[in-house]
Amino acid sequence: MDEIVGPQFSQTPDPYENQLRPKSFADFIDQSSVVENLRVYINAARDRGDMLDHVLLTGPPGLGKTTLAHILAAEMGHPLIAQSGPALDRPAKLLSILTSLDQGFVIFIDEIHRMPNIVAEYLYTAMTDFKIELAVDQGFGGNRLPFELSQFTLVGATTSEGMLLSPFRDRFKIEEKLTFYPPDELFNVVMRTARILGVKIDADAAKIISARARGTPRITNKYVARIRDFAQEWDAEKITTDVTEKALDRLGVDGCGLTRLDREILGVLARSGGKAVGLKTIAVSVSEEPRTIEEKYEPFLIQQGFILKTPQGRVPTKKAFEHIDAVPPNQSQGKLFDA
Ligand SMILES: Nc1ncnc2c1ncn2[C@@H]1O[C@H](COP(=O)(O)OP(=O)(O)OP(=O)(O)O)[C@@H](O)[C@H]1O
Ligand SMILES: [Mg+2]
Repeated sequence: MDEIVGPQFSQTPDPYENQLRPKSFADFIDQSSVVENLRVYINAARDRGDMLDHVLLTGPPGLGKTTLAHILAAEMGHPLIAQSGPALDRPAKLLSILTSLDQGFVIFIDEIHRMPNIVAEYLYTAMTDFKIELAVDQGFGGNRLPFELSQFTLVGATTSEGMLLSPFRDRFKIEEKLTFYPPDELFNVVMRTARILGVKIDADAAKIISARARGTPRITNKYVARIRDFAQEWDAEKITTDVTEKALDRLGVDGCGLTRLDREILGVLARSGGKAVGLKTIAVSVSEEPRTIEEKYEPFLIQQGFILKTPQGRVPTKKAFEHIDAVPPNQSQGKLFDA
């Protein structure tokens, strides 16, 4: 179902995320180069009295793409209609949404890389010419029915920008990439979340959380909420380093911020003795969907230097073997790491 929200702000189905989701640029912690660029584009468009160009937001899950889409619409003072790529499975669905938009609407399409190409192709002319031509009466010479559209701004979000066809990607005149937050930025997210949830926390405890939350605000928020539960259960007045260490241990999060599933992935790779392993093999071995492994787990493991992505498959690094106390490959494979 479509979600239409006013210019002020949005509701999404998850009340917890809504409570914590920053509502303005001022509230949005760090990612300063992205935020500064977007501010410039918005101010310039507003000063000219123009629409904001179409925006593509890329980056791993939980870094703030949806949040920024809502902020963009709010800053432009326009309503936002939210959709997801997989839900737009037929051109007619896209048409019914686009023809219902008023001038200035922001349409946000999450997981835009999962929109079928046949639908994306209709969006091409809609994005550039604000027109759409729907094929009708295929049996009678393939008539095309033209529809004029109000001007809109498309904000697309994707965790896999490489999967967008280039003619589609080129139509986004603004592209911003969100990257994992360094621990000192996540520290600010921890403190903000603790404040909103009304929980007391020691600065050293916040440092531990921010170092182990995989550079991701959504994970940070999840850990703060769960550690709060443990603190309450253990009759602690506040979140201390001791509470944090014990709670993260209970959650299966290790000193590098890896979870059980991360370590299972490294285990599968280590058992291959350093040889490349295909995504599907990893997924079957750890009982997860290949897409979940690729979009949710791998980016952090790659960024932290635990695995390498090669055309043949995924290869564990020396750091991976060390991390899970696995026996590294024998001499000949050892050369892989010494090179
Ligand atoms: N810069 C930030 N400052 C503070 N909190 C943030 C920030 N970015 C994200 N968050 C928090 O993380 C949560 C997840 O962010 P969001 O839903 O925008 O991520 P996303 O990139 O859209 O993820 P997905 O790819 O899974 O859709 C938000 O509800 C918000 O509470
Ligand atoms: Mg999102």
